[in-house]
Amino acid sequence: MEEKTLRQKLAEVLTDKQVAEQLVLTRELMARYKCAIYEAETKFRVLNEIFSVQNERNPIESIKTRLKSPESIAEKLLRRGLPVTPETIERELHDVAGIRVICSFLDDIYMLADCITGQDDVTLIQTKDYIKNPKENGYRSLHLIIEIPIFLYGETRNMKVEIQLRTITMESWADLEHKLRYKKNLSGDTQAQIARQLADCAELCNVLDRKMLEVKSKVNGAALPADA
Ligand code: GTP
Ligand code: MG
Repeated sequence: MEEKTLRQKLAEVLTDKQVAEQLVLTRELMARYKCAIYEAETKFRVLNEIFSVQNERNPIESIKTRLKSPESIAEKLLRRGLPVTPETIERELHDVAGIRVICSFLDDIYMLADCITGQDDVTLIQTKDYIKNPKENGYRSLHLIIEIPIFLYGETRNMKVEIQLRTITMESWADLEHKLRYKKNLSGDTQAQIARQLADCAELCNVLDRKMLEVKSKVNGAALPADA
C-alpha cells in the first residue's frame, strides 16, 4: 500500500517534471516568436525609411504587432484535436507571430509585399489575397505567411510570421466589423441588416481606396508649376 503511494507520488513528480520541461520549452518558443516579430517589424521599418528618402512620402502609416496568447494557442490546437506541445504549436500554427502593416495607398500594399518576399532570407509560405478575392462579408487585406530566420547563440531558427497588409480604410472597416461580430443580444434580423450594411461599407471603402490611388497618381504625374 505504502509502495503504491510512493509510485503514485513518483508518477506525479514525473508528470510535474514533464510539465515543467514543456513549460520551459514553450516559454523559449514564445520568446523566439517575439524575436521573429522584431525582425519582421524592422524589415518593414527599413523599407519605409528608404522609400521615404527616395519618394518623399511614407508607404506605411502604422504597424501593429501581436503575439498570440497561450489561451488562444491552446484553444486553436484543442479545437483541432491536437495536443498542446511546442512541436505542434510550431508545426501546426502559422499565426503565433502576427504583424499588421497599415499602408497609405492600395499600391503600397503590393510594393511592400514584393519587397519583403524578395529578400534573400525570407521564404514565402502562403499568400491569401483578400483584396483581389474579398471575403463574402467584404473583408479585404493581403495576408502572407513568411518564414524568417532569427539568430540565437550559435544557432539560427526559421520562424513563421503572419503578415496582414491593408490600407487605412480597410483597417477601419475590419476594426468595426470585428467589434460588431462580438456584440451579443442582436436579433437575427438586426444581424442580417448589419451584415448587409457592412458589406455595402466594404464596397464604398474599396471605391474610396481606388479613387485615392487615382488622385495620388495624378499628383505624382502632375507637371511642376512653371515657377517651381
Ligand atoms: P484564423 O484561424 O482565424 O487565423 O483564420 P485562417 O487561418 O483561415 O486565416 P485567414 O487568413 O483567413 O485570417 C486570419 C486573420 O485575418 C484573422 O485572425 C483576422 O485577424 C483577419 N481576418 C480574417 N477574416 C476577417 C474578417 O472577416 N473580419 C476581420 N475583422 N478580420 C478578419
Ligand atoms: Mg489567426
